[in-house]
Amino acid sequence: MKHIRNFCIIAHIDHGKSTLADRLLEFTKTVGERDMQAQLLDDMDLERERGITIKSHAIQMNYLYKGERYTLNLIDTPGHVDFSYEVSRSIAACEGALLLVDASQGTEAQTISNLYLAMNNDLVIIPVLNKIDLPGAMPEEVKDEMVDLIGCERDDIIPASGKEGIGIEAILNAIVERIPPPKGDPEGELQALIFDSQFNSYRGIEVIFRVKNGRIRKGDKVKFMATGKEYFADEIGTLRLTQEPKEVIECGDVGYLISGIKVAKEVKVGDTITHLANPAASAIQGFEEVKPMVFAGIYPVDTSEFEELREAMEKLQLNDASLVWEPETSAALGFGFRCGFLGMLHMEIVQERLEREFDMTVITTVPSVRFEVITTKGATLQVSAPAEMPDPSNIDWIEEPFIKAQIISKAEYVGAIIGLCMDKRSVFKNQVYLTADRVELQFEMPLAEVVFDFFDKLKTISRGYASLDYEFLGNRESTMVKLDIMLNGEGVDALSAIVHRDKAYEWGKKLCEKLRELLPRQQFEIAIQAAIGQKIIARETVKALRKDVLAKCYGGDISRKRKLLEKQKKGKKRMRQVGNVEIPQEAFMAVLKIN
Ligand code: GTP
Repeated sequence: MKHIRNFCIIAHIDHGKSTLADRLLEFTKTVGERDMQAQLLDDMDLERERGITIKSHAIQMNYLYKGERYTLNLIDTPGHVDFSYEVSRSIAACEGALLLVDASQGTEAQTISNLYLAMNNDLVIIPVLNKIDLPGAMPEEVKDEMVDLIGCERDDIIPASGKEGIGIEAILNAIVERIPPPKGDPEGELQALIFDSQFNSYRGIEVIFRVKNGRIRKGDKVKFMATGKEYFADEIGTLRLTQEPKEVIECGDVGYLISGIKVAKEVKVGDTITHLANPAASAIQGFEEVKPMVFAGIYPVDTSEFEELREAMEKLQLNDASLVWEPETSAALGFGFRCGFLGMLHMEIVQERLEREFDMTVITTVPSVRFEVITTKGATLQVSAPAEMPDPSNIDWIEEPFIKAQIISKAEYVGAIIGLCMDKRSVFKNQVYLTADRVELQFEMPLAEVVFDFFDKLKTISRGYASLDYEFLGNRESTMVKLDIMLNGEGVDALSAIVHRDKAYEWGKKLCEKLRELLPRQQFEIAIQAAIGQKIIARETVKALRKDVLAKCYGGDISRKRKLLEKQKKGKKRMRQVGNVEIPQEAFMAVLKIN
């Protein structure tokens, strides 16, 4: 144990975590130069393209320091707020963290939130000032920020550049010198923390764990304490560039376990592995079930592809335990699925993976958070789709999820940001100057408002300088209403939304206007109406199309006539018929962009 160091790298997105990790692996010869591929840890194509490490992994390095051989376990953490629970479990598997700050950007929202997580877990923080090679680097200012933030000495900060390979040895030495070896009782009952899992189509789910107490041997009969499931440790080992099977993983070390688990849901991040015969008295603290926060319907564009979509969703779920779904039917869109996501980024990723890996074209409906509706009969309903909302006369009150949002920005954008947040029904809580030019703002805001285009708007008004992080606060009472859209008197369920009453009029008006632009003129007039309950709050009209497409043909040329009819038919394919009105695909998407 004396020679083990477990650490992670925490950083804001794009501050250079993956690049630095690559350099550490190269320097310790964990990978030969020939195997070296930029950003080795991001092994999903999508991750590489987006430059975001979606799922955490672990990798083991050997490092010779003052003639002694050390085992360094680098535990990778995802950088985005949607995955903050996974970050917290990865952090719980470490004794230390490299805190990476981009010398040209300074500290950002995720730098701070991840730092707090690390400090709460009593991790030793090694501050690293990264990207010092950049011409726009402001090393002295950013060092000031870091000293203020961490309370470290200026000299503790290691200047580095992952790109140029500067400071790599100093970082490795600091890992050995400053981070303490793991504690724990090697002879105690087994307690191993599951902090990640990955899916392998041949071998099933691979569980990644850190042994806190005791040791695990190949062939042991083990039990996962939260799920109560029992397995054989068919194979255990350490993670290098490839998996290296071992007979035993000792106290303090990190490893993987394979035991033919087929379903991602059985492996819960944060769960504790123990022995079946001689179990630990208690599980490792901090386990939580991850809860989806954002819900939306996913439908195949081509209704005949429903079964294919189901298969694709099942496969996705194999390696994404946080994705939940159930079948749903919409009058407008047909058969599809109601899905729950950790957040907006997670939703985008799922949609993209469906299209990319499974070649599906899907429609996503208006995302919603989960409301709690207390009925006049005293029952509490969980409502995450407009269709589930009971009639207003049966509702006593409604509660919606609130978050604590933390925004860091250049001082000059503070006014615009406060304006935007106020427009989103936020409560301003606090404002702290990190430096003369950088401000941290805190708001309490409804998650429902963040779900739409808040992040994009924030980036726009701050010219990309603001960063956002948030945590869930709890539910609060709100006056929410269900807004329905009707075309020629017929409700279109996929266009309904649950919105705050104060915003319902604006929402209804804008949506009607947008639909008027998007609905093609048809043989008859189309009335577009927005309604709350029985009350119509907005109306637009699409005028009837006068000319018959065939009128031009003077009855003569039959082949030309056929061509025109055919063209019309093709056009129809990309439409959905609701009552007698044809709705193009863009109309369902438009809802996302009107806010
Ligand atoms: P996420 O995985 O999205 O959190 O990003 P990351 O923190 O892993 O950052 P990544 O290593 O992907 O680097 C982000 C960008 O910064 C890439 O374009 C890198 O080439 C660049 N970059 C990383 N390190 C350095 C550095 O030391 N100097 C310079 N100039 N650029 C760097």
